Amino acid sequence: MEVKTSLLDNMIGVGDMVLLEPLSEDSFLENLRKRFDHSEIYTYIGSVVISMNPYRSLPIFTPDKVEEYRNRNFYELSPHIYALADEAYRSLRDQDKDQCILITGESGAGKTEASKLVMSYVAAVCGKGQEVNKVKEQLLQSNPVLEAFGNAKTVRNDNSSRFGKYMDIEFDFKGDPLGGVISNYLLEKSRVVKQPRGERNFHVFYQLLSGASDDTLKKLKLERDFSKYNYLSLDSAAVNGLDDAANFRTVRNAMQIVGFMEDEVQSVLELVAAVLKLGNIEFKPESRCNGTDESRVKDKNDLKEMCELLGIEQSVLERAFSYRTVEAKLEKVSTTLNVAQAYYARDALAKNLYSRLFTWLVSRINESIKAQAKTRHKVMGVLDIYGFEIFEDNSFEQFIINYCNEKLQQIFIELTLREEQEEYVREGIEWTNIEYFNNAIICDLIENNQNGILAMLDEECLRPGTVTDETFLDKLNTICAEHQHFESRLSKNSKFLTDHSLPHSCFRIQHYAGKVLYRVEGFVDKNNDLLYRDLSQAMYKANHSLIKQLFPEGNPAKVNLKRPPTAGTQFKTSVGTLMRNLQTKNPNYIRCIKPNDKKASHIFTESLVCHQVRYLGLMENVRVRRAGYAFRQAYEPCLERYKMLCKKTWPHWRGPAREGVEVLMADLQVPAEEFSYGRSKIFIRNPRTLFFLEERRRQCLQDLAALIQKIYRGWKCRSRFLLMKKSQVVVSAWYRRYAQQKKYKQVKSATTVVQSYTRGWQARKLLRELKYQKRCEEAVTTISAFWHGTQARMELRRLKQEARNKHAVTVIWAYWQGTKARRELRRLKEEARRKHAVAVIWAFWQGLKVRREYRKFFRANAGKKIYEFTIQRIMQKYFLGLKSSMPSMSPIDRKWPARPYRFLDGVHTELRRIFHLWRCKKYRGQFTEERKAVYEEKLEASEIFKDKKALYPSSVSQPFKGDYLEISKNPKYQKLNSAVDEKVLLADVVNKINRANGKGTARIFLLTKKSVLLADQKTGQVKASVPLPDVASVSVSTQSDGFFALKLKEGSASAVKGDFLLSSEHLIEIITKLHRIGATAADREQLNVDISDEFLVQFKQDKVCVKFIQGGPKNGSSVSCKRKNNRLLEVSVPTTA
Ligand SMILES: Nc1ncnc2c1ncn2[C@@H]1O[C@H](COP(=O)(O)OP(=O)(O)OP(=O)(O)O)[C@@H](O)[C@H]1O
Ligand SMILES: [Mg+2]
Repeated sequence: MEVKTSLLDNMIGVGDMVLLEPLSEDSFLENLRKRFDHSEIYTYIGSVVISMNPYRSLPIFTPDKVEEYRNRNFYELSPHIYALADEAYRSLRDQDKDQCILITGESGAGKTEASKLVMSYVAAVCGKGQEVNKVKEQLLQSNPVLEAFGNAKTVRNDNSSRFGKYMDIEFDFKGDPLGGVISNYLLEKSRVVKQPRGERNFHVFYQLLSGASDDTLKKLKLERDFSKYNYLSLDSAAVNGLDDAANFRTVRNAMQIVGFMEDEVQSVLELVAAVLKLGNIEFKPESRCNGTDESRVKDKNDLKEMCELLGIEQSVLERAFSYRTVEAKLEKVSTTLNVAQAYYARDALAKNLYSRLFTWLVSRINESIKAQAKTRHKVMGVLDIYGFEIFEDNSFEQFIINYCNEKLQQIFIELTLREEQEEYVREGIEWTNIEYFNNAIICDLIENNQNGILAMLDEECLRPGTVTDETFLDKLNTICAEHQHFESRLSKNSKFLTDHSLPHSCFRIQHYAGKVLYRVEGFVDKNNDLLYRDLSQAMYKANHSLIKQLFPEGNPAKVNLKRPPTAGTQFKTSVGTLMRNLQTKNPNYIRCIKPNDKKASHIFTESLVCHQVRYLGLMENVRVRRAGYAFRQAYEPCLERYKMLCKKTWPHWRGPAREGVEVLMADLQVPAEEFSYGRSKIFIRNPRTLFFLEERRRQCLQDLAALIQKIYRGWKCRSRFLLMKKSQVVVSAWYRRYAQQKKYKQVKSATTVVQSYTRGWQARKLLRELKYQKRCEEAVTTISAFWHGTQARMELRRLKQEARNKHAVTVIWAYWQGTKARRELRRLKEEARRKHAVAVIWAFWQGLKVRREYRKFFRANAGKKIYEFTIQRIMQKYFLGLKSSMPSMSPIDRKWPARPYRFLDGVHTELRRIFHLWRCKKYRGQFTEERKAVYEEKLEASEIFKDKKALYPSSVSQPFKGDYLEISKNPKYQKLNSAVDEKVLLADVVNKINRANGKGTARIFLLTKKSVLLADQKTGQVKASVPLPDVASVSVSTQSDGFFALKLKEGSASAVKGDFLLSSEHLIEIITKLHRIGATAADREQLNVDISDEFLVQFKQDKVCVKFIQGGPKNGSSVSCKRKNNRLLEVSVPTTA
């Protein structure tokens, strides 16, 4: 169900000022403030929208909002600019009424933004399609282009429109946009050459310098630095929140969308650059012979660059800045320009250049957005024109702008009153006139053709003789003196003679929006808007297509001596056309209000708003609106909204809406003078009545809500109860079912038991009977079987007898046949044997014959040869077999293939030996010299000890290391090492056995090529040195001990102390080495090594016998030496396992 809403719902303050109660300026402002504080920036006065500038972006312009306001009635939702746009668009589309949207307000109040919002809304709700979208896009994109060239930062507004704009958007019968036409009014061109403090030139200059690429700037002969250009004010060149560079790109893009060709854009930028260059041209005086000063261009560089940009001959322009040609009838007089005049000419040229460029841009855009179809169009005009301006110093521009605003105010008054009046007439309501201030009198003061200010200014400008601003003021003082709204100090009206707020060079007009003081200085010049003909001709001569177009009057072929219309007249004419245009359309008003002077959000400056409310005549607007009826509403929505207040109309009224409303009003007893019935609407005179209705509606809604709530609650409880009841029935049904099921199952099982017993009994009974029956049957069968058996056996016996008889016959027959067959076989065999004997005898006979015949062919020694051959073959086979089954090359491998023939026994053993020797040789061949020596030593050890000493087998696997102490490397033995001259062949720690107690003392045993040394183990001090020739022999035991005695030659120097009895773990190695070296050193055959378990050792004078015995287990595992007596040392050696 669609929810019907109204602007009266959730209102903050009142959404429509007409409903304000009581109505006063204070309550009006308070309402505005209240709504503004709640971000409600729009308020209605009837169908007029008041728009407060929020100075911040509000979330009320989203696509959702557009959808919300689309196709809704004006008063249906809270006030919004979209409601106005929708109303205008729908009456244009559906009722075929041309519309105009008049947006007024002072500078910075938000007119341009409002116009853009209206356009964007219409663009969003109108038809879609490729062509339509292109038109929309072009219409919307015309804004950034015009804003760049026509807007500037002022103290009041950072994006102030410095021209008036009226745009007609044309639609077809479906409401799809076809195109548009833009009209521009009076660009503030003085800004091009000079900007007031805190303001800057038109945006495009800054955008070009900030946003153009280096390349473009180079082409345009420009530099990025603003300070290089006299026409650009520097103090506010950068504007907060304005990105000139990005905007430049937007503008270029927009120009492309609108349809500007690339060369056109380039021409436009060249013109902009030319204006900047023009500002940099400076002049200096040059004295002439007649005593006057003539101006000359100071630095010609800028002039040159500008001429290059525009394709103008430099000398022509230079001359135009120095001379002025005046043509009168057939005469041509050339006068020189002084410096001031030259500057005036330069600035005039710059202003003209720029303003003509702007006008050209507008017409170029119009060309692009022109509606193509020739059919009748519906038109929606949007007017965004400069607001009323009251500055400290007001000049011609303000005068013109304020004149325009006067005209708009007039049209506003006229149209609102007319519309109101027309509505009453349309609805058949009686109408009484209302008093309001009509500003027609002020318009007349300005525009009257005979004695209006503009007419007077024109007259003054065209008058021969000296014309100055003062003469113009004098004229005003005479002619307008009596006018109520004209004030001047020197007028004939004595009232102002003493008014010091009125300077002599000024006049004041009481506009509808307040008094404005105008300084006359510049009025005549600005109205004349003169550009010296020499300059326009110089421009026309330019080799630049656009410039040529802009200065058509420079064409010498079309010299027109008639003066062009003055600026004032031009403006008056165009305003007149505009007003006539607007009067043919249905007006929609947006009155913009600026909440503060600081461009700040959330600040509401009451005095400022009050001033605007006053001069915009908003209070009067409300009064006019209320003078008749404050509120009106069509019968249907009215009945829909209030029908619940009367029982007869609630909930449905079947008859016509009007009658329903009449019944309703009668039922509510609203006094008859409080309302009137129109044809389609009810008119409510007083807001109080409306509020009364609203209050009743609110109460009624509350009651209705309570009723609905009550019914809903009752319904909810009942539904719950019914649900519970239903549930209970279900639960009990389920329970009963369960109980019955259970009982049924019990009965069933009992029945089954009883049944089974009965059936069992019956079955058993039946079984018994069946068994009896079966037994009877079996008895019968048995008897019959026996009977049949007897019968069968008798038959069998008979048959057997018969068969036996038959068999006997067969056997006898078979014997007979057999005897016959054997006899035959014997005969056949005999015959075959005979045949074979004959064949053998025949073969022998044949063989004998053949041998006898061939014997002569065999040699006598064939048998020997065959024997040799056979032997050879056997040998060959044997060797080849041996080759493939050879054992490995390891000398310890004992494998050898088995002998195949006994006669090969000797060969086989011999081959095995040879092979072993050969592989041993191969093995030895791999040895290095060192290893060879080691093995030789090992071999020698074996020769000495093998099978002689029990220690020997354990030494075989131990390598002979020699230097166990690493004497040369170990720093501990450094001293000892240095004491030995020869190379140490063996170094080891041995025990020197003390003969006194048989205990051992550790000694270092060193063996060199020449001697044996014994040294202290700790200190390394040499204790004994025995030259090898002094060693007579060595004695060792046969057992596994390490004892050995070095016996010294008797009578040698070493023998003085006696022999050495030592023990070592490396006995075998020591003795072997001694044996080898001892021989060479002593130059004798070999050193004697005695191996016996008893030997004598010479200790000084005594000979002691050392005896080795096999020790029992009590001796443990170590060898022990004990002195038994003076002559016997007993060494017990543990038994080796
Ligand atoms: N509806 C809005 N929402 C947000 N900001 C707004 C709105 N209307 C106006 N403004 C702000 O106020 C500034 C001035 O608005 P705008 O340019 O429309 O003023 P104007 O009435 O056209 O002034 P001028 O007469 O100088 O051209 C805008 O630049 C914008 O910052
Ligand atoms: Mg504007």
